[in-house]
Parts: sequence; C-alpha cells; structure tokens
Amino acid sequence: ALVLVLCGGGAAALVYFFARPPLDVRVVFDRALRIPPIADSRQGEQGRRVFELQARSGDSDFGHGATRTWGYNGAYLGPTLRAKRGEAVAVNVRNALSETTTVHWHGMHLPAAMDGGPHRPIAPGGSFQAAWTVDQPAATLWYHPHPSERTETQVYRGLAGLFIVDDDEPAQRALPHDYGVDDIPVLVQDKQFDGDQLSMGERLGSDIGVLGDEILVNGTPRPYLDVRSELVRLRLVNASTARIYNFGLAGGRPFALVGTDGGLLDRPYMTDHVRLSVGERAEIVVALEPGERLTLRSEQALGGDLESKFNGGRDAFDILQLRAGASLTPATLPKTLVATPRLDPEQAAQTRSFVFQGREISGRGMDMSRADAVVVKDTIEVWNIANGHDTPHSFHIHDVQFQVLLVDGRAPPPELSGWKDTVFLAPKQRYRVIARFADYADPATAYMFHCHVLKHEDEGMMGQFVVVEPGQQPRLHG
Ligand code: C2O
Ligand code: CU
Repeated sequence: ALVLVLCGGGAAALVYFFARPPLDVRVVFDRALRIPPIADSRQGEQGRRVFELQARSGDSDFGHGATRTWGYNGAYLGPTLRAKRGEAVAVNVRNALSETTTVHWHGMHLPAAMDGGPHRPIAPGGSFQAAWTVDQPAATLWYHPHPSERTETQVYRGLAGLFIVDDDEPAQRALPHDYGVDDIPVLVQDKQFDGDQLSMGERLGSDIGVLGDEILVNGTPRPYLDVRSELVRLRLVNASTARIYNFGLAGGRPFALVGTDGGLLDRPYMTDHVRLSVGERAEIVVALEPGERLTLRSEQALGGDLESKFNGGRDAFDILQLRAGASLTPATLPKTLVATPRLDPEQAAQTRSFVFQGREISGRGMDMSRADAVVVKDTIEVWNIANGHDTPHSFHIHDVQFQVLLVDGRAPPPELSGWKDTVFLAPKQRYRVIARFADYADPATAYMFHCHVLKHEDEGMMGQFVVVEPGQQPRLHG
C-alpha cells in the first residue's frame, strides 16, 4: 500500500505487482467441488467385494476448453473405492489406453503379486485382477499407475483415485463421516495449461518435475464447497507429481489434525499447517462459523531459496473455499481417537540405512532383478533414511505402514507421529523409521521403496525389497 501512495498511475501498478508478496494471489472460487463417486461393486464368490476399473482417455474442461485427459471409468481421475477391514476385495483393471500401465494401491498392506508395481504391467487391451483381504486400520489410501518410467506422465494426465478403508473404531463415527457431505475427499493436483490444452509432462520440468500454476481439487478448478455442519473433515491427498504443499487456513486459523497416511492419530492435534509431499495424506477437521467463507490454502511449503528452486517460485495457492450455511448442525470433536501401539526398536531384527541422493538410493539406480533388502516375514526392522543433498526427496515404501522414530535425532512432530507410508525428506535431514513386515512372503516378487517425486521415481530412484520366510532366498527375475 505504501508503494501505491508514493507512486501512482500505471507505473504504480507495476511496482505494486512486483513489490507485493505472492501470498496475496487470490482465486475467485466459482465451481462447486466435484466429489468423486463411490465406486460400484458387486458381490463375488464367498462374499468378495468386486470392483471394475478401466483406464481410458477422454475430454475434460478445467475452464480453458476441452483437453485430452486420462481417468478410470471416466475422463479424469477415478471413483473412490471403499472397503472395510476384514473384507475380501478384488479389483479388475482393464487397460483401454494405448500404452502400458499398472495400478498400485498406495498404502495398502497386501501380497507383492497384487501390489501393481512395475512388475505387473497391463498392456493396451489387457487386464489384471488384484485380489486381497483388507486388513489394516481405517485410512485414506489412494491408487495410481506405477509403470516403469511412465508414472509421472500417467498421473499428470489424470490417473489417480482414492481408496478409503473403513473399520469399527468408535472414533470413525465420532468424527464427521458422511462422505461428500461433512467428510470430504480433497485430492490436490497442480496443472499447467498451454492455451486450452493441459501441458503434458514431457515438455515441462524442473529438477523435481512438472510444476503447474493452477490447482485442481478432485479435478475441479477454483472449487468451493457448501458446508452445513459445524465441523467438516477434509481428507487431504497430495496427488500431484512433484509439488509440495503446506496446507493451512486463511488467517492462520487453527484446525485439528486427526489422521495421517495409514490411519487416525491417538487424539486430535490442533495446528495451523500440515505439509504434504507427493503421495502423503492427512485428515483434518475444520470448525466453521455460520455464514462464513474460509479458504484452504498452501504457502511456504519449502521456504526461502528452496521454494524458488524446487516449488516453481510460487509459494502460495488458494485451494478450496469452504462456504458455511447460515445455520450449521452442531458437532463436537472427540477428545481421543485410536490407541496405536508404538513399535519398539529394541525388537528390531534388522537395521538398514539408505541415502537418497541424485537419482540413486545408496549409489544404486533401479534394477528390477535386484533385491536391495531381504526381509524376514513377521519381523520388525528399523530403516535409517537420509537425504544426502539439497534436493527435496521423499521416502515411500510399499506394503507396510511405518512409524517415524526420529527426525534428525529429534522426536517427530504430530504430523509424523502416526502411521505413515510416505515421508518428506527435507534436504540434508535424517529420518529413522520402524515397521513390521507382517503376513505375506513371496521370494519371487518384489515390493518397491522409492522417492515419490514421480520424475525421480521414473528416473530410477527406486529400490526393491523382498519378504521371505525364515531361511528362504529371494529369486527375482526382473
Ligand atoms: Cu504411490 Cu510406489 O507409489
Ligand atoms: Cu527424489
């Protein structure tokens, strides 16, 4: 404002534009947030819940005109798969695209042969059935392609969806739980447009990959959501390909963090921000006043130099506007959520260390025939993960949910205190995590662990682990 007073006219507008912090870039929210439909399912043999997914292309309009996109059972994104702990499920995936794809169930505990990584390619016209029994706490999981070297492009074009796991914990019903009403999926992606066309990954890029300057939530640009109750639960999913978000509410309004990647926390934690790198999720509960409009935003995800170097120089985004009705249904936040036993490092059968640097993990690129770790079934392991350099990375591991023991030698903050399958690796920081590798052994099939910056993953920043019975040797074929 001072700048405006001193100058005036057109020059003032220019100075004002450059002098003004980018925090004030404001979006006019003019489209109702799309809620992905709950996927239909049918009852298969022995009560198995059977879903059908078809990866296909179609046309979408994000406000610039029609552009070609990819989706599952539709033109963009996919339906929300939903199943309860203890349920046997099957997903029949058909590939109606003109290139090979796979579908991976991010965060799901399941046999390696069902996991949908690069070892399970589905050729154009081909299909794959993944079948397993859901056995893990209620959580916001998601599914996305995981083909060798093509994950960034396929996710960017629109292949992704939610997989919500339910269970009987009383806390689930004590929290807002009416899907699409007060329990809202918020799948966040950044996009770049070239005229009316979605710019595709190949032609963009930075050290961490595609960075867009427009935000889509569930495929909706400039979205608003009408809310009718005092509390709304947002299931935040970073389904971008590279961008890191630091979610918060306008004005620094506090909210309750209630869950992370693999399920609910022990209790709600009041905070004013939660940072999510690609693939990470958080469940938050926001309290609203009658009639107000409140914006979910992201700002200063990395901060300082890193922001311009790795987050495209843009440090603030308006993401979603919550519009509270004139009268709101009363709701209260439970004081406690779920009891989660802490895994004990004293009981670890093995400690391993990995350094993420460049496009390699401990100096090695991806090799589909090599086992980087052989883990004995039903044992606990401690993994030390270091980011060796100044590029942001992340650590994601398939099959298990882990607990973070230490971040650079210190106890983790609340957002890293619950079950996680993905953790942001800040430059030069060290993370110690612990997991139990329960239930499934298969010496011939690998699970992946990798950087979830999709460009890095595609460029080979990925390793493999094999879970075996005691005394078994792995036999991978590549
Ligand atoms: Cu979200 Cu290995 O993937
Ligand atoms: Cu990386």
